[in-house]
Amino acid sequence: MPVRTFESIISDPSRLPIAKAVYALGTETAYDVMAKAKAIEASGVDMIYLQIGEPDFKTPEYIIEAAKKALDDGFTHYNPTSGLPAVRQSFADYLNKTRGTDYTLDEIVITPGAKPLIFYGLLATINPGDEVIFPDPGYPIYESVIKYLKAEPIRLPLRESKGFRFDPADLNAIVTDKTKMIILNSPHNPTGGVLELEDLKRIADVAIRDNLWVMADEVYSRILYDGRKHQSIASLPGMKERTILVEGHSKTYAMTGWRLGYGACNTDIMQIISRLITNCNSCTASFIQIAGKAAYEGPQDDSEAFVAKFRERRDLIVERLNDIPGVTCQVPGGAFYVFPNFSSFGLKSREMENYLIEEAHVACLGGTSFGRYGQGYLRFSYANSVENINRAMDRIKDTLKKLKPKAQRPNHEDFRTAISD
Ligand SMILES: Cc1ncc(COP(=O)(O)O)c(C=O)c1O
Repeated sequence: MPVRTFESIISDPSRLPIAKAVYALGTETAYDVMAKAKAIEASGVDMIYLQIGEPDFKTPEYIIEAAKKALDDGFTHYNPTSGLPAVRQSFADYLNKTRGTDYTLDEIVITPGAKPLIFYGLLATINPGDEVIFPDPGYPIYESVIKYLKAEPIRLPLRESKGFRFDPADLNAIVTDKTKMIILNSPHNPTGGVLELEDLKRIADVAIRDNLWVMADEVYSRILYDGRKHQSIASLPGMKERTILVEGHSKTYAMTGWRLGYGACNTDIMQIISRLITNCNSCTASFIQIAGKAAYEGPQDDSEAFVAKFRERRDLIVERLNDIPGVTCQVPGGAFYVFPNFSSFGLKSREMENYLIEEAHVACLGGTSFGRYGQGYLRFSYANSVENINRAMDRIKDTLKKLKPKAQRPNHEDFRTAISD
């Protein structure tokens, strides 16, 4: 039997019964775009991939050695649900050093990647009908899990005019007595935007006033440029106990395939998340945890070198995009994405994504993969070589000459909300 898509399965009344709750699950379109680009590549064209959200570097050698040694030392068994105590202590120490917090090991829970923690964190706190505020554009898994839980996804628009931060008036307008949580992600996927201390203080004031949870997704905390220092809402007065801080090794140490993440939260929520882990993945592989401890405690030269390389590529891609008539691109403060504005061509983001794959043979993601406020934008990951970035930008510039920007540039703030995908 051929493998069918998720959408064709859920819309087929003749299939065997499946749970209705899964209908609400969204996805990450990076994998679909990859499949489409690979199919075109198979016809003999040279494709450049700028759609995927993972560092193109090899995991530093000292971390690989630590994992090998841990295997030799017998770390091949089940371990405590929330993680090995020595590793949790090490992660608490790391957070305290980088955020100025005072976490103990009892407030740390280790998971296979940061992503399960988003799922478990929401599962542990949100009931049907609760409203959860999340950034739009934003990492698509937030909205997916909120909907899966039959809660209400409430969009906090991020505005290009504010460096992809939010407008306080937008936040005030969407908080209601049903709001239960605000999800933050800084540095931000897909825009590379970074929240400033004043933004965090504003959110903290609302969270304390209205007794809300905050989920702070800080997986890009180490990928910051131009002297910026990471700021965590968990370090603000009164916020630690109501924040579920999400961190992980995927981006900092090029460890996406190892699956290692962790959360810091109050001990009550920690216990509930542990119970969810017991019912699902039992624990995170112990030799991977040992490698994660070594990652933090070893030399940081490799991860610093990754950031220096990302910075060089960021400067290049921003310059090259702004050099294309009709395209504007802000300089992102963190992560390894740019979110240029292509709205002057009058195509929807998804149409532009397809156009560039088919005509320029460059894979990138339409901004609406990250929510409706991404209309008019594209996301490029610059986790690729300088040579490939240059080649991709040459091709896009040439290809777009055929389209030509419209003389009257639409106001993108209207454009992106007025047009659905
Ligand atoms: C904002 C954000 N949060 C979480 C994750 C998940 O990371 P992990 O590989 O640790 O599960 C990603 C991965 O792309 C991400 O972009």
